[in-house]
Amino acid sequence: MKLRELTPADAPRCAELEKVLFPGETPWSSGVFHQEMAQPFNFYFGVEGALDPAHESTVLLGYAGIGMMGPAADPEFEIHTIGVDPAAQRRGIARMMMDNICHIADLKDAPVFLEVRVGNEPAIGLYEGYAFAKQGMRKNYYQPSGADAHVMVRPRQSER
Ligand SMILES: CC(C)(COP(=O)(O)OP(=O)(O)OC[C@H]1O[C@@H](n2cnc3c(N)ncnc32)[C@H](O)[C@@H]1OP(=O)(O)O)[C@@H](O)C(=O)NCCC(=O)NCCS
Repeated sequence: MKLRELTPADAPRCAELEKVLFPGETPWSSGVFHQEMAQPFNFYFGVEGALDPAHESTVLLGYAGIGMMGPAADPEFEIHTIGVDPAAQRRGIARMMMDNICHIADLKDAPVFLEVRVGNEPAIGLYEGYAFAKQGMRKNYYQPSGADAHVMVRPRQSER
């Protein structure tokens, strides 16, 4: 499996995965992925590999997007999206992407923020493993489901 930067050519596959992973929460279309990837302070990367280890052909198995905000000398990051093909989950793919996100943040001694649906225990477990802690709640955050979100924060390295 290989971690690599995503390009606009990956947008349709990201949208295909979003549809499966976030069915009740306005999954991003290919066009939205395109736009997000084009923003200068967003970084998109993913993991490519074989869906079936018995076959050689590879496909994008997971994707993640982060944004950098604030002053260049003291930035903070936000995880905008992260997902892994259901057929490839529990193989460490999210971990490969989170390692990269946290490494980038630690290089800049920056905190990382995210929102996660209340009850999304796989994702919350993943984030807690990277020192994220629940800091607040956004009511009615996801539409059209109306589900609430936890705000989670990974403090900057110098404050952990
Ligand atoms: C959350 C998600 C990205 C995890 O991807 P993954 O590649 O399966 O995760 P990994 O194999 O790298 O697992 C890393 C850790 O996450 C946690 N985790 C992942 N899936 C889990 C599950 N089903 N139940 C409990 N913990 C889980 C565990 O701590 C796991 O470590 P472990 O395998 O050593 O126990 C994936 O389940 C997913 O795409 N979910 C739907 C989309 C989503 O909810 N994204 C997050 C939006 S905020």
